[in-house]
Order: sequence, then C-alpha cells, then structure tokens
Amino acid sequence: MNSSVRVDLSVEVGALRFTNPVITAAGTFGYGAEFSHLVDLNRLGGFVTKGISREPIEGAPSPRLHETASGMLNAVGLQNIGVEAFLRDKLPLLRKYNTRLIVNVFGYCLDDYVEVVRRFEDAEGISAYELNISCPNVKKGGMQFGSDPALVSEVVGAARKAAGATPLWVKLLPLVTDIGTIAKAAEEAGADALTVANTYPALAVDVRTGRSVLGNTTGGLSGPAIKPITLRLVWQARKAVKIPIIGLGGIETAEDAVEYLMVGASAVQVGTASFADPRASEGIVEGLTKVLERDKIFNIIDIRDKFGVENG
Ligand SMILES: Cc1cc2nc3c(=O)[nH]c(=O)nc-3n(C[C@H](O)[C@H](O)[C@H](O)COP(=O)(O)O)c2cc1C
Repeated sequence: MNSSVRVDLSVEVGALRFTNPVITAAGTFGYGAEFSHLVDLNRLGGFVTKGISREPIEGAPSPRLHETASGMLNAVGLQNIGVEAFLRDKLPLLRKYNTRLIVNVFGYCLDDYVEVVRRFEDAEGISAYELNISCPNVKKGGMQFGSDPALVSEVVGAARKAAGATPLWVKLLPLVTDIGTIAKAAEEAGADALTVANTYPALAVDVRTGRSVLGNTTGGLSGPAIKPITLRLVWQARKAVKIPIIGLGGIETAEDAVEYLMVGASAVQVGTASFADPRASEGIVEGLTKVLERDKIFNIIDIRDKFGVENG
C-alpha cells in the first residue's frame, strides 16, 4: 500500500480542515504564486500571504535581511501592494490552487484592520484571516496592539465583527510579559485560532561602520535560534486557551514540526526555512509521513498534546 494512503496527515483548525498541517508563514512566501514554479502549492496544507494593508506600503530602507548565528534578522517594513491591488492582481491567480489561502492583515489603527477585512469579505476564496497585531498603534502613541490585553481585545473584537463567518486567526507577539493573558484576551474577543508567534525584536551591528546591519536599525529575529523559546510560548498559550494554536518559529524539519504539534499546536507554519530552500515546506510534508511511519503512528492528530499528557 502507498505510504501516503496509510498515514493520515489531515488536521482541523477550528472549523477548517487542512490536508496536512504545514502552512507557509506570512512574509516569507510572497503572495504565494511567486513560488508556484518551485513548490507544488497543492501539496501544502495552506499558505499565508504577506501582510496586506489598507494602502500600499513601500517598506523599510535596505538592507532588509541579515543572517545571524542560527537565524535571520529582517526589517522589511511590511512592504505590500495594498488590499485593492491584491484583490485585483493576485487573488484571482491564487484561487486556482487546491490549498487553503489565509490572508495576513495589519494596520496602524483599528479602522485600518476593519477596512481591510471588510474589503476581503466581498471576495471569494479566502479560508481565514490572520491578524498581525505586532504593529504600532499610531493613535495610542505607537504602542504595539499585541502588547496590551485591552488593545488586543479592541482590535480582535472589531475585526471579528467585520469578518462575518470567515475564521479569524490572531498572530501574537512573542515578547510579552505573559502570553497566556494576551492569548485569553484574543480568545474572549472572538479569535478562532492563535498563531504563536511572530519574530523577536533584535539588533546587529556592523563593527566596521558602527552602524546597524539593517536600514531600519532594529529588526525581527527568526529561524532556528528562536525555536526553543517559541515552543515554550506555544505550550503556555495552549494551557491558557481552548481555541486551536498554529505554532511557528524556526521550523526546518518534520521533527521540528512534530515538537510543535506535541506541545499542542494544531498546525504549523514554516517561515525562514523557505529562504534557504523554497521547497522546505513541501519537504516537511513528505518528512512528516516518514516520521509517522517510522514511529508507527497512522494519524497525525494522535501526536498532538503528547507533551502535555506526559508533563502535565
Ligand atoms: C522576511 C520576513 C518577513 C515577514 N513578514 C511578516 C508579515 O508581513 N506579517 C507577519 O505577520 N509576519 C511576518 N514575518 C514573520 C514570520 O511569518 C514568522 O512569524 C517568523 O519569521 C517566525 O517563523 P520562522 O522562524 O519560521 O521564520 C516575516 C518574517 C520574515 C523573515
């Protein structure tokens, strides 16, 4: 019998069924279609678009990327073509794929989030919204939405109303005092799932010039360096809420993905790994089948929460 028939990789994230738990992460896979000549998008559980805003954004000055020990620093500045151009020029192509499309949404005030979601509600083919709340709220002195439970509640509640029946995922900041409190605030305001987590604020200096290696001075750290830290956050969030969690941070192999599933994630996302190998996500899907076969597990949902069961 064919191995892919014997091992069932399908998962559910709330009401949404995915053929497998591997989803590419926002900002690391363009708008999706750019990768279609390299990756069989139909083999992925889904993909998340780069962040989409109300108006087009040019982004941060270069350099925007910098390799660090076991990771990567980025300051892209959320460059994107804006919701109108996305709906007109990108979405019609993306709808052709037999995979789940999740759109990542961000804004600089409450109205921005609501307006982008409203515009998407008129379109077809979107499986879920993912709110990036790691953005400065210009109306509240630049404080990040995601760092304060009251602000999280406000932005999630407003987006929830605008989103109608479409599932709403909320992508949390990793650098907060207590991720459980933030996770609960998002759940109570109507989030259908949580994405844990975004990049860590970080800095690297060019010692020849004494300046930052990035055009934007600081950036976000991603890649294998953050995996153990984020894994703990997923576990903590899992204990705090009942809604599903999508885990990401430094996943490069199928076994990395298994770790996230074991601490309670329902699905995973792959980000930085796609920069070194655009086919990384597809490779992880193949690898999951092999890992499960090796361990004689025929249904991927059987490994979920294994860590919690063993460790309380
Ligand atoms: C170049 C780059 C751009 C990113 N852009 C976004 C974005 O637009 N929206 C967002 O929510 N996260 C964005 N992220 C964060 C990733 O989606 C992911 O949360 C983070 O990189 C951790 O996962 P990883 O270690 O697998 O990369 C970006 C990350 C990178 C490296």
